[in-house]
Amino acid sequence: MVPTSASASHQSSLRAALRRLSAIKVDSRSSPSSSLSLSTKAVTMGTPSENPQRAPWRDILHSHLEQTPGYEFTIATIGYNAQQHPVPRLRTCGCRGFFPELELHPQGQEAMDQQVEGGGNPPIFESDMLTFTTDARMDKLPQLESSGHAIEAVFWLKDLMTQWRIKGTAYAIGNPSGEDAEEEKTSRTEIRKALRVKGDNNNTIAKWTWERAVTKYFANHSPVARGSFRNPPPGQPRSSTPSQLDLKLGQKVSDLHDPVARANFRVVVIRPEEVERLDLTDQENGKRWNWTLIDGSNGPWNETELWP
Ligand SMILES: Cc1cc2nc3c(=O)[nH]c(=O)nc-3n(C[C@H](O)[C@H](O)[C@H](O)COP(=O)(O)O)c2cc1C
Repeated sequence: MVPTSASASHQSSLRAALRRLSAIKVDSRSSPSSSLSLSTKAVTMGTPSENPQRAPWRDILHSHLEQTPGYEFTIATIGYNAQQHPVPRLRTCGCRGFFPELELHPQGQEAMDQQVEGGGNPPIFESDMLTFTTDARMDKLPQLESSGHAIEAVFWLKDLMTQWRIKGTAYAIGNPSGEDAEEEKTSRTEIRKALRVKGDNNNTIAKWTWERAVTKYFANHSPVARGSFRNPPPGQPRSSTPSQLDLKLGQKVSDLHDPVARANFRVVVIRPEEVERLDLTDQENGKRWNWTLIDGSNGPWNETELWP
């Protein structure tokens, strides 16, 4: 499925993925993924929904991340150079786990209890979508917007001698204007499609809000890290004085709704379409698996073991 807004390069990488898929010709009857039922309905807040199926790679990656203290990943997006040619852009980011389940540190939960109604959202959703947080003024968000939201994330988990590559699309949430902002509306719609309701929680969906979900990620940052969203504009020459006087380095933010910091704070949610695990534990017999989403955002997934 190629989004109409996708750039030529994104379309060609999607076409390549489709070509690879048809070349692999996996027998779906023998695929571990095939025992799971097909579900294509989108989740709409306030209405009971049919759940997207759980990705077959999710629990393995989750267990690997749990064994890795303080994990970062490399995030690749597509930029455009002065000649308007597509160019890769990569940077390190801290991975914040699967959306929207975030285990807050005690001070973060204390801040949520004091400042957010009910201490936050009821824990009714889960997903296979990884998250990171960022500043809306950095380059990666316009790069996502101009490239059909194309993204690839890579972990090298050295203790486990394993590389994970997560390819797909990514959407940023947290614009204070909410759904009045077109890109926030699109992001929520796209993320919603891949959310799963946990257990028998369909009746409580209406109590869950996007604003509280984003606030939880903001609360998970230390006051100094929250203050970085009040920094002078990232990537601009240090010689230029910010026009906004409250933009300074080294500020501490306790207010979870600080309007200046929250105007810049975003949670980026990665909706995976293709996942690859490379296990180099035994260098003489490397192992490599590919999982590719077959049918839109809700599965099923094709699993194929590859030559490393
Ligand atoms: C260890 C480490 C963790 C980082 N974590 C993040 C992060 O979670 N989010 C983020 O936007 N930038 C993070 N950065 C900074 C980015 O690598 C990058 O410099 C910044 O996001 C600007 O990139 P951009 O202009 O290409 O968007 C981190 C850098 C390092 C070294």
